[in-house]
Parts: sequence; structure tokens; C-alpha cells
Amino acid sequence: MDRYGVFGNPIGHSKSPQIHRLFAEQTGQVLSYEPLLAPLDDFAGFAKGFFETGLGANVTVPFKEQAYRLADSLSERAQRAGAVNTLKKLEDGSLLGDNTDGIGLVRDLRDNAAVTLEGKRILLLGAGGAVRGVLEPLLAQRPAVLVIANRTLSKAEQLADEFAELGPISASAFEQLQGPFDVIINGTSASLGGELPPLGEDLIEPGITFCYDMMYAALATPFCQWAAMRDAPNRDGLGMLVEQAAAAFELWRGVRPESAPVLAALRRQLA
Ligand code: ATR
Repeated sequence: MDRYGVFGNPIGHSKSPQIHRLFAEQTGQVLSYEPLLAPLDDFAGFAKGFFETGLGANVTVPFKEQAYRLADSLSERAQRAGAVNTLKKLEDGSLLGDNTDGIGLVRDLRDNAAVTLEGKRILLLGAGGAVRGVLEPLLAQRPAVLVIANRTLSKAEQLADEFAELGPISASAFEQLQGPFDVIINGTSASLGGELPPLGEDLIEPGITFCYDMMYAALATPFCQWAAMRDAPNRDGLGMLVEQAAAAFELWRGVRPESAPVLAALRRQLA
């Protein structure tokens, strides 16, 4: 059977096997998709072993940069992201690295939540790997301005420099931000510790500013709670997870699955 999987460490919590099983059922594709606990000290060896028979894999924490180095060729968006979340074995046996995180975010915002990005003022919180991975697809939507704000300002400035040729991008400290924005995307890992970056009250225009947390949880994340308390429409990152998987599935199988029923199933399960 055509073999796929997801590399991570830890991997037990991953929802990818369930998502891809549902995609396969829905599209009538016959394949297997396994969780793969890769060793921290030998990702490359483990991945190469898998690809002796495997056709494709997703890559999650903490291996996305290592997968970038392992790939024999890279999509342009993976090249820009400096990270790979999807590997595909090509006909000649070589490994193509792609990154579908950014398109997953854009599709969830644009197609599922009906949020327009073109011509809008977008604020992106954080400057780590998660943010780097979504910058190119966000800029491709042609926002009026994309501001990156980060606790460590120099990291935001470095990203803004690196992506400047792709669109109107700038960097700011949290304290210097001037709102309101049309869309605010939280790409910090602060939610993991139940925290929030220091966000001013003027960033949100009630009822207008759309707030998106790249993290998700059974209960509203601290960022989504912050938004809801200010009457801002908000959404967590479960849809991004499903959409990045859908884009990977399409790369492997040439068929685009429908994400809505899968997202609904995951949401029911989280509750
Ligand atoms: P990831 O791969 O999830 O992006 P990362 O590369 O470690 O992880 O980046 C984490 C991001 O969350 C960084 O932008 C970090 O800010 P710093 O660059 O200043 O470290 C941000 N972050 C983490 N905890 C935070 C907190 N409590 N408040 C604000 N920002 C936080």
C-alpha cells in the first residue's frame, strides 16, 4: 500500500494521521499514514529509512529545519520559509521539500473565514519559525501593509529585511504599534504558557478587526479570549492545521480533499 506518515518527537498527540485517513476515505485513495517517532539525534537517518518504501511525509516539531536540509530540491515557498513540513519522493527517488503552512493559513482565513487580506493592514505577532513560514503566502495576498511585532525586536527587523522584496513589510516593538489593524495574527508561542504579548487597546477596532491565533485548543486560547473581550471576530488555528494537511495531500496524490467536514470532525472531537 502507498505509504505516508508524519515525523515528529513527540508524535503521540499528532492529529495528522486522523486528518489524512479522513482525506483518503473521502477521495477514495488507498494509502496508509502513520505517526513516526523520529529520534532527536538522527532525523536524517530515520527519514531516509522511511523513504526506502514511503512516498511522502509531513514533518512537525522539532524537525522542520532538518527536513529543509535533507530535501534534495525545494519549492520556492519552502526555500523562503527555511523550513519544510511536507516531503515527497519524486519518480527519480529524490526528495522534494515543500512548506504548506502558509498556504494553510491563507486558505483558512480567506476561504473558510471569508477574511479579505488584499489591501488590508495586517499585524503579525512573533518572529519565530511559525511566522517565517507564513510570510511569503501572506505577502502574496497583497496586503496594504504587514507589520511584524516581536518581543525581541531585532528578530522582527531581520525578517522584515529578508522579505522586503516581496511586499510592504515592516517591524515594530509591541509598545510602538499604532492600530487599529484589519487583521491580527498571533504566531507567538505565548499561548502555550497561557500568556499573551503586551497588546495595546488601540490595536482592535471592535467588530472589524479579525483576530487569528495560529494555535488551537479545546477552550478559547488566551489570544482569542483577548479578542472576544473586545468584540473582535476571532478564530483559532485548527483550520490552518487541516488546510496545510489538505495542501500536502494534494501535492502527494494530485487530488484536493474537502477540508470542511474534516475540520468539523476535529472540532467535535476537541470539544
Ligand atoms: P515557533 O517555531 O513556534 O515560531 P520559536 O521559533 O521559538 O517557535 O518562536 C517563538 C515566538 O514566540 C518568538 O517570536 C517569541 O518571541 P522572542 O523572539 O522574543 O523570543 C515569541 N514568544 C514566546 N513566548 C512569548 C511571550 N510570553 N510573550 C511574547 N512573545 C513570546
